Amino acid sequence: MTLNVAVLVGSLRKGSYTRMLAHALADVAPDTLKLSIVEIGDLPLYNEDLDGDAAPAAWTRFRKEVQAADAVMFLTPEYNRSVPAALKNAIDVGSRPYGGSSWSGRPGAVISCSPGGIGGFGANHHLRQSLVFLDVPVMQQPEAYLGGVNKFFDDQGKVTNEDTRKFLTTIMTTFAKWAETNRKR
Ligand code: FNR
Repeated sequence: MTLNVAVLVGSLRKGSYTRMLAHALADVAPDTLKLSIVEIGDLPLYNEDLDGDAAPAAWTRFRKEVQAADAVMFLTPEYNRSVPAALKNAIDVGSRPYGGSSWSGRPGAVISCSPGGIGGFGANHHLRQSLVFLDVPVMQQPEAYLGGVNKFFDDQGKVTNEDTRKFLTTIMTTFAKWAETNRKR
């Protein structure tokens, strides 16, 4: 059985390493997973006054795409030792309306990256805190704090280092098992 995985990319910039990582992870994922990026860049900032029947179309589109997924992967850079605002906004949009969270019970993974050596550890763990509350069972191991991400890729976006490629493959094969075991039934 194929599981649909919604992939959220925490950076909005065109040349984002985080987005390149999303494609690299899709390349090494087992056939049992179908990864699709769910875009977050067009989501208006969450404002409870706007929610309900006349919610912004982008919120509705986003919520439906998450709800259609069996599992979620959060790929994030680190901004000021935390999660970029665009990604936190997407998490907030998906969490409402009250009692109708799109995240509930969907198994997840958090993968952080940075050109720096700490690999987005701060963002990774801030994100995990929200996901505990949102009832997303997050894969514990392997932890993925990917430092030096600016050196991962060639001009075609392919991962050049064999050990890095192996680690990305391990992440995806482990996540496939995690998603299958913890999938909402
Ligand atoms: C950063 N960057 C950064 N890096 C890091 O390791 N820790 C941090 O706290 C921050 N803080 C930070 C704040 C802001 C506002 C920006 C724009 C950047 C650097 C960041 O890791 C780098 O720009 C990455 O390339 C961003 O990811 P994408 O856009 O390449 O996916």
